[in-house]
Amino acid sequence: MNKFASDFGIEYPIFAFSHCRDVVAAVSRAGGVGVLGILAMQPEQIAIEMKWLDDNCAGKPYGVDVVIPVRTVDRESGLTDAAAVTDDLAAMIPAGHRAYAEALMEKFGVPPAPPATHQDGHGFTTAGFTAAGGAQQIDAVLEGNASFLVSALGPPPADIVEAAHRKGIKVGTLVGKPHQAARSAATGVDFIIAQSYEAAAHTGEIGSMVLIPDVVDAVGDVPVLAAGGIGTGRQMAAAMCLGAKGVWTGSIWLTTHESGTDPWMMARMCEMTSTDTVRSKAQTGKPNRQMRTPWTEAWDDPQGPGCLPMPLQYMLFAEYTDRARRAGVNELVGSPVGQIVSRMNRVRSVSEVVYEIVEEYADTMQRVSSEFSLPEG
Ligand SMILES: Cc1cc2nc3c(=O)[nH]c(=O)nc-3n(C[C@H](O)[C@H](O)[C@H](O)COP(=O)(O)O)c2cc1C
Repeated sequence: MNKFASDFGIEYPIFAFSHCRDVVAAVSRAGGVGVLGILAMQPEQIAIEMKWLDDNCAGKPYGVDVVIPVRTVDRESGLTDAAAVTDDLAAMIPAGHRAYAEALMEKFGVPPAPPATHQDGHGFTTAGFTAAGGAQQIDAVLEGNASFLVSALGPPPADIVEAAHRKGIKVGTLVGKPHQAARSAATGVDFIIAQSYEAAAHTGEIGSMVLIPDVVDAVGDVPVLAAGGIGTGRQMAAAMCLGAKGVWTGSIWLTTHESGTDPWMMARMCEMTSTDTVRSKAQTGKPNRQMRTPWTEAWDDPQGPGCLPMPLQYMLFAEYTDRARRAGVNELVGSPVGQIVSRMNRVRSVSEVVYEIVEEYADTMQRVSSEFSLPEG
């Protein structure tokens, strides 16, 4: 389709982020490229997932996405012990914030917490959010066979870029502003993902129409992928016309058969419109587009205690919404999802999504070039 895609050994420059390995493998097999998000995974789990991808991508490439935030509480407090960091952070959550979350649980009829079941005793891991956990994740990724590594929250440190390049692994990074893109380009990354306001997960405030060309112009020869609000061929065509070499997608895969999304959540997404999402700090402590729920409304309420910094807010979110989920109080349980949710109104297979995007992209480019002609002379 273009040189960028062939440099990656893929047919279509459609990158698909997912926390679900089945989606990742299915996209790679369909000619795009899947990217596994390993945010909460411990190194042993990463090795298992990557081995599974080696065996299930039919020899096609796949990537891995790590978070590596620049500023988090553990970094600012010098917590460097991976084994102790979750406990140390848990002790920093103010009692008033816990009481506020408890009151919300009570209001929605969520019973008191059952005993913790997870290996680290908290029912979740802080792995990718912390410096200590993130370093272990990177080591595990570099041991495997991913074709590329992407950092989600800030330019990847130079030593990681160098270590990846030594292993023949390309490196990319997500940005939300042109000046971040320029800074990231200077670290030697192989590609940049311009993630706009419409996107699920951590976004800035700039919409795609303005962000994509501004990032393209800010980074010289470094190829740019467009992320945010892309789920159809027309949207892909627009992104390519704005200067992107491909697209990076996330939300659209949540309503695929392969996604593992809970059936009630899938049904809810199929009915949501773009205004049912909100950019809120209520999940992770940094602005993150997600479903609007009573949880987001409570933490965004100016009368409330406000959100904690990353990863303390994430720890509250993970603990309390998991409790709500186990009690079947689904209305409190959210998920990152972008404004493209308005078009996610039926459940399809991953390959259907890929082929529909590609077909509509080709039709759109043809229609536009046949409709537009400059006057002669
Ligand atoms: C459920 C979900 C979880 C996400 N988690 C991460 C993450 O851990 N790391 C990351 O770089 N991006 C994450 N994203 C963002 C995607 O990588 C992607 O940039 C974004 O979804 C693109 O915009 P779109 O949602 O409009 O397609 C997530 C997206 C979704 C839908």
